[in-house]
Parts: sequence; C-alpha cells; structure tokens
Amino acid sequence: MGRLLLLLLLPLARVPALPLYNGFYYSNGPGGQNTGNGRGEGVFNGVKLVVEMPEETLFSHRGANVTLPCHYRYEPALVTPRPVRIKWWKLSENGAPEQDVLVAIGLRHRSFGDYRGRVHLRQDREREVSLEIRDLRPEDYGRYRCEVIDGLEDESGLVELELRGVVFPYQHPQGRYQLTFHEAKRACEEQDAVVASFEQLFRAWEEGLDWCNAGWLQDASVQYPITLARQPCGGLGLAPGVRSYGPRHRRLHRYDVFCFTAALKGRVYYLEHPEKLTLAEAREACLEDDAQIAKVGQLFAAWKFRGLDRCDAGWLADGSARYPVAHPRPNCGSPEPGVRSFGFPDPQRREYGVYCYRPR
Ligand SMILES: *[C@@H]1O[C@H](CO)[C@@H](O)[C@H](O)[C@H]1NC(C)=O
Repeated sequence: MGRLLLLLLLPLARVPALPLYNGFYYSNGPGGQNTGNGRGEGVFNGVKLVVEMPEETLFSHRGANVTLPCHYRYEPALVTPRPVRIKWWKLSENGAPEQDVLVAIGLRHRSFGDYRGRVHLRQDREREVSLEIRDLRPEDYGRYRCEVIDGLEDESGLVELELRGVVFPYQHPQGRYQLTFHEAKRACEEQDAVVASFEQLFRAWEEGLDWCNAGWLQDASVQYPITLARQPCGGLGLAPGVRSYGPRHRRLHRYDVFCFTAALKGRVYYLEHPEKLTLAEAREACLEDDAQIAKVGQLFAAWKFRGLDRCDAGWLADGSARYPVAHPRPNCGSPEPGVRSFGFPDPQRREYGVYCYRPR
C-alpha cells in the first residue's frame, strides 16, 4: 500500500510531506521476542512505524549545506531498539527514473551518483535519519523520499527542496523558436543554468514574469507566462496564467526555453574600461582583470539576488549584450526592473562594455 500511495501522490504538483503510514502492523512474538518470520505469524501487538518529515518546502541556495529532516518512531514506543535500514531517494521531475541518494544499514552508508561524497546521514537524536546535502547544486532541487525499512515493512515520507533562483527566457542567437529540447538543455547549461521546471516557471509568473514567446520546460512541455492578457499573446479572451502548448516532440519541434539559475557564489560586475569593446576584446579584458566574461544566467542571478544595477549595456559570453536594472529610472529602459537585452549584435561593433564574473 506504501507503493500505491506513492503512485497516487506522484501526479500532484505539490505533495505535502505528511507523515504517512501504510497501516501495517508487524508481529512481535509473545514476551516481546521477535519471531522473525515476517508478517502473518505470531501475535500482533499493534505496533506501528511512523515516519515524520516537515510539511513545508525547504528553501536553500547554491553552494549551501542543507539538512532534510526525517525522524521515525513506533506507536506505541518500543523498549528495545530495532535495527533499521534507511534509504533516501529523489523522485524524478519528468518521468525519468528516480535517483538513489543514500542507503544506510547500521553504521554503514553508501551514497550514489552525483551525491557521492556530498551526503551524510545525520543522527543527532535517537531515531533521527536526516539527510545532509553539502555544496548544493542547481539540479538538487526536487522531492526527496526518506524510507525506513525495519525488516518486515517500510514507511516513508516526502520533503521538497527548492533552491532560490531566477527563471529567465532564452532565445537562440538566430531568433525566435530555433531550439529543439536537447538544444534548449544545452543552451541553458551554457548560461550556467538548467531548464526550468513547471513549478519554477509558475513561481516566476506569480512574481510577475510575463513573456510572449513559448519555451521548453524540464518535462518537455512548452509553455509561456502571461501576467497581462493582450492581443498578440494568445488574445484578450484568455485569463492571465501560465499557458501551455502541452508536451512537444523533443527533436522535431523548436521553441525558446525557460532557464533556471540558482543564486550565485561569486560576483558579477561591469568592467570599468576607458573604451567600448568588440566581443573578442571584451573576453580578453575580463581575463586581464582575473575574471571571465559573465554568462547570461550569472547576470540574471546578480540582478535578482545582489541587486546589480547598471545602465550600461555590456557583452556576455554568448555574444549577447544586456544590462541589469534593479531600480528603474528614466533613460534606462522600461519602467519595470529586469535584465534588458540588445539581442546578439555584430561582434565587431565597439558600442558596448562588458560584464565580468569572478567565482569568489
Ligand atoms: C558545509 O559543510 C562542510 C563540512 O562540514 C564545511 O566545510 C563547509 O564550510 C560548509 N559550507 C557552508 C557553506 O556552510
């Protein structure tokens, strides 16, 4: 029944991490001796295993250490501790297989894949089996399941981890609707970002993101966020919201993409330089300043989380020219805060400065 519950819960956008139990009552033999023969034999004492996890979503940021709390207990409480196995795994966002994170038996732990060396079981208190993840990566966001297996039956709970970040639309240099799903993934990665999930786009829409071009999301659906209904963006008849074209073919269809980038570790700055630069000179100038030309995702993160505000357009690594405005003012683009874009100008033009990025 634990599996059944899981299947029922999966399609929901937001699954509260309620403590759940599957109603299994395991057997202790007479006098508290475990008969060891599994369910269905011996006397049922009505002891229930309960796993408890926080209901609310946890928020953290890139590079941080975070602890996903998980505790278990027996009802009624047991006098003698029983050995348990613990399994932490991450649910998939888009139908891909789930990811094993950590398995612990007694004092032995094993971690898997990208989590190897970054995850530890925290057992500060009795029956605590919390998961610590160090040096959080942008792709670590999602729903994690803590499963306690006590030989006869298992119980589990869910917790959701979200990274503070910013969603931004991205277009190919040649213009609108050029990217297949796979190219879209690569485009986001090249901007120090990942393809946004629906939840991330939805949150960005709640915060005011309005974009009239449809873009890929992590689940290979294509959607766009509209705050103000208008004629060229699906018409006035439709209510504001995140509008969906539904799932599209990953190789045959071409759109823009929504990328998600988590808050930055380093610093993005406009390079003070006596002259305007070509794109090649811009790259070189950042290197000479012991930095690198900034990526689009880095500029968005600096704008969103550091309040980077500069009315001078600068080159970025992808060959676009942009500038970040945290405090809108006259002669500095639209009245809304945002990262303004000049698209992808001729790389030989000396009309722009440059934004550099230094990791520390
Ligand atoms: C994360 O934990 C490790 C090991 O305890 C520590 O060295 C590191 O400084 C921590 N990082 C942060 C951002 O707190």
